[in-house]
Amino acid sequence: MIEIHNIHKSFDGKKVLDGISGVFETGKTNLLLGASGTGKSVLLKCIVGLVKPDIGSVTFDGTYFTNNKLDIRQEIRRKIGMLFQGSALFDSMTVEENVEFPLKMLSHMPKSERMDRVNFCLQRVGLENANKKMPSELSGGMKKRVGIARAIAPNCTYLFCDEPNSGLDPLTALKIDALIAEITEEYNITTIVVTHDMNSVIEIGEKIMFLYEGKKIWEGSRDNILDAEVPELKEFIFANRLMRDAKKVEKGAAK
Ligand SMILES: Nc1ncnc2c1ncn2[C@@H]1O[C@H](COP(=O)(O)OP(=O)(O)O)[C@@H](O)[C@H]1O
Ligand SMILES: [Mg+2]
Repeated sequence: MIEIHNIHKSFDGKKVLDGISGVFETGKTNLLLGASGTGKSVLLKCIVGLVKPDIGSVTFDGTYFTNNKLDIRQEIRRKIGMLFQGSALFDSMTVEENVEFPLKMLSHMPKSERMDRVNFCLQRVGLENANKKMPSELSGGMKKRVGIARAIAPNCTYLFCDEPNSGLDPLTALKIDALIAEITEEYNITTIVVTHDMNSVIEIGEKIMFLYEGKKIWEGSRDNILDAEVPELKEFIFANRLMRDAKKVEKGAAK
């Protein structure tokens, strides 16, 4: 479980995060939802420690992270897998080398054990025959899969994904969402997915925080998000025509 408490962050006097608190549950895909520019990526970076909050704190399974001693922060960092926006694979490395990279950096595993783990992770994301391919030979969906394999290779306890399905076609996007949700449940990971995509909400939104102008203004799940009475959230959801139509169908069915 990851807890954040009263996170504030400004850049050059401009407030980006305005006192966000909340809990991200273990074994669940926790979504950070909101329009572009609302501070989702900045919040994720504050949680991982890539950006230091001006005020506020983050704890990982009860261990205080922000401002703690370097060795304690490093210990937690080692347990974090991260899937960056745009996959961020190393272009000059093969798929296999990309997935092996964090194991080389973070573990003392011998080569044979590393390769076993690489093969296991590639298989888990459905890429068993891609070891020797270069990133440039892969489709967008395959790159995301490699990114996920690399993130989970060191047996992560926490998994952070920033817009994992941006740039993908809708069907591939659904598959990537489903893969992240499956892996989260299977390995009991605390996963946080940043998204602005209502499809993700409907597919994997067990626990959702909605951010608006640096504040968390709603929290819930896919089961109650369509009934939320928060104007900013309604506007966000129903900006999408499909969602407006779905709501009409639902209302019609209820009559
Ligand atoms: N390092 C930075 N320096 C200055 N401004 C930043 C920095 N990172 C993010 N911002 C600003 O913070 C706001 C929120 O950004 P971001 O978290 O990336 O939004 P999103 O919700 O789309 O992920 C934006 O206005 C962005 O320009
Ligand atoms: Mg972002």
